[in-house]
Amino acid sequence: MRYHPIPASVYKQNRTHFAAQLESNSLAIFNSNDIYPISADSTLPFAQHRDIFYLSGIDQEESIVILFPDAYEAKHREILFLRETNDHIAVWEGAKLTKKQATELSGIETVYSLSEFERLFQELSTQCNRFYFNTNEHYRQSVETQTREDRFIAWCKKNYPAHLVGKSNPILQKLRSVKAPEEIEQIQQACDITEKGFRRVLSFIQPGVWEYEIEAEYAHEFIRNRSKGFAYTPIIASGNNANVLHYTDNNQQCFPGDLVLMDVAAEYGNYSSDLTRTVPVSGKFTPRQKQVYEAVLRVKKEATKMLLPGTIWKEYHIEVGKIMTSELLQLGLLDKADVQNESDEKPAYKKFFMHGTSHHMGLDTHDYGLLHLPMEANMVFTVEPGIYIPEEGFGLRLEDDVVIQSQGVPLNLMSSIPIEIEEIETLMNA
Ligand code: GLY
Ligand code: MN
Ligand code: MN
Repeated sequence: MRYHPIPASVYKQNRTHFAAQLESNSLAIFNSNDIYPISADSTLPFAQHRDIFYLSGIDQEESIVILFPDAYEAKHREILFLRETNDHIAVWEGAKLTKKQATELSGIETVYSLSEFERLFQELSTQCNRFYFNTNEHYRQSVETQTREDRFIAWCKKNYPAHLVGKSNPILQKLRSVKAPEEIEQIQQACDITEKGFRRVLSFIQPGVWEYEIEAEYAHEFIRNRSKGFAYTPIIASGNNANVLHYTDNNQQCFPGDLVLMDVAAEYGNYSSDLTRTVPVSGKFTPRQKQVYEAVLRVKKEATKMLLPGTIWKEYHIEVGKIMTSELLQLGLLDKADVQNESDEKPAYKKFFMHGTSHHMGLDTHDYGLLHLPMEANMVFTVEPGIYIPEEGFGLRLEDDVVIQSQGVPLNLMSSIPIEIEEIETLMNA
């Protein structure tokens, strides 16, 4: 494997926590993602669904996990189905997981071939009253394709119309939001790889360089450090491109005097990291850029201090908004009248800072977490304020990933990644 996997004991614990939340006589099913077609025989690279991964550590297409705590036979309480392999597949695609390897990775003792699924599922369906389906209830989801999970749910409802149904997603949203120490280690590893990429580009960026050349430097550094690559589509946005929040074309040349905003980070073992740094193309900030940079950095530092057990995400954003408002007043971007005329729905600061400050981060970059519930120790959040000023030709965001502690301020997993102006300028001019 390219990455060092988390011990099976963690996946076993995840399954135990999940199973404890099921109604009695219930069976939960989790499918892998499809391998998405492009055209002809081309496909996108396989990316495992994070829920089946969280519950098993199995990173292979077509795998299915069943959790059925009240199954008549103990061996049917946790079952993994794997696609069959044969000599032809071994020659063309390489080895697939053996049952023994799958048990070692996942801690699931009962492993069947996929061809046995329908027969066994039929048998188990007579023992349970309820199926728990894994629908996507993420607050940012907007999926237009039918996933493998969706197809399975449709098949199951058609063939077993008398069963009750339950929802796995709210259970997973809650469980996945609080990270085990081994998960935090994987995230730390992703952050450390990201740091290597960032340090590499600091000595690479100079006037005339193209955004995609910077992207290539990151990719090189990530992949040579056991990452599969970018945790999300990278944003390398010089000058006014930074004012397009989801700019991912990365196809422009970087000019002297401009800033380049880089929202780029590595994955490791299917865990994300999420970093943004904004640096001067020519290695030196202008006085105005410095002023705005320091304002964003102050907001980031103040916001981080508020990520404590008990904090409510929505209230936290209101407080961060107030700090940002006072910075924007000092920068002359807002005046008193703007603030007097604002409403709760349309605060004045949103003109220059239009996105959220923090999101859960983990197996997904915008990870699971029920935002109405208070924050807890071992949740991982980003902190990412920004100020975007098209009229001045730049946009500026700074982003780190932090772990909430049971006491005191959060642990910054990116504390060694340069962020202070002086350090950035020194490294860029070394
Ligand atoms: N890179 C995506 C985000 O910062 O939320
Ligand atoms: Mn980001
Ligand atoms: Mn983020």
